Parts: sequence; structure tokens; C-alpha cells
Amino acid sequence: MSETLHQLVYYSRNAVSGDGANFAAEVNSILEASRRNNEAAGITGALLFNAGVFAQVLEGPLEAVEATFERIQQDERHGDVSLLALEPIAHRSFTHWAMGFVGQSCANAQRFADVGLASGFDPARLGGQKVHAILYDLTLEEEAAAA
Ligand SMILES: Cc1cc2nc3c(=O)[nH]c(=O)nc-3n(C[C@H](O)[C@H](O)[C@H](O)COP(=O)(O)O)c2cc1C
Repeated sequence: MSETLHQLVYYSRNAVSGDGANFAAEVNSILEASRRNNEAAGITGALLFNAGVFAQVLEGPLEAVEATFERIQQDERHGDVSLLALEPIAHRSFTHWAMGFVGQSCANAQRFADVGLASGFDPARLGGQKVHAILYDLTLEEEAAAA
């Protein structure tokens, strides 16, 4: 079993229909399962939702990351799952997060207007490194705000 740390970055399109309350309940259920499973599998990371798009970073041992991504790809709550990066890393970025979440807030939209979060988040244009950097910055800010 490979214990080499890897990081995977992907994005996808939301497929949850219905009103805001329904969507919030689905996101809560995703986060609850993610935190439970990821902690057991040694995975950390963050999930962003903005403008109908999910973007996620998963980091951990390669086999665990791949098995988790396999499961995520089968999930019908999103579609058009597109891999942006899968590469070895020396250190984790999201040490404290089994799965951090950054939602669609006005503050976040304004802060990241320059990379298109306000007008419509477009991870295909941004690439894996930039998406990782955005999630990293936003998650650190959430952590600081919660402290
Ligand atoms: C956008 C998105 C992100 C997800 N992220 C994770 C994750 O990081 N870890 C995880 O175990 N499941 C994640 N899931 C949920 C999985 O697809 C699946 O429902 C879950 O792993 C099943 O867990 P359970 O068998 O313990 O209920 C995600 C689903 C979606 C739609």
C-alpha cells in the first residue's frame, strides 16, 4: 500500500435540485459523511461551492485518495466531474480539516471577484494550483473567523 501523500483537485456541477433548504440539507449530509469517512481514511481537504460549481481538494495516502474519489464520482448529487490535478505532495495543506467547507457568502464573492467567484466560478480556466490556492486561503480565513 502506497503511503506517499498525494493531492487531488477536481471540480463538478451541482445536480441537487430544489430550493435552498433542500440544497443546504444535502451539503450538510455530504459534509457529515465526508468528515466521518475522511477521518477514518486519513484524508484531509476542503470543499468549495460557488455559482453552481463544487471544487474540492483531497489529500492523503494515494490509495485512500483514489478510493474516496471513486466514490465521489458515483454520487448523483453532482455531475461532469473533472480532474484538475493528482500529484505527490511533501506536506498537507489542510492539516486541521477532515473536510473544510467554504460556501457562497457575499464576503467571499467580493474577496475573490478577481478570479471570477463573483461572476461565476470557473475552475477549468483556473487550473489545479489556483483552485488549491483559493480553497487554502478561504479555509484559513474561515478558521481564523471561527477561532
Ligand atoms: C461534492 C461532493 C463531495 C464529496 N466529498 C466526499 C469526501 O470528501 N469524502 C467522502 O467520504 N464522501 C464525499 N462525498 C460523498 C460520497 O459521494 C458518498 O456519498 C459518501 O462517501 C458515502 O459515505 P457512506 O457510505 O459512509 O454514507 C462527496 C459528495 C459530493 C457530491
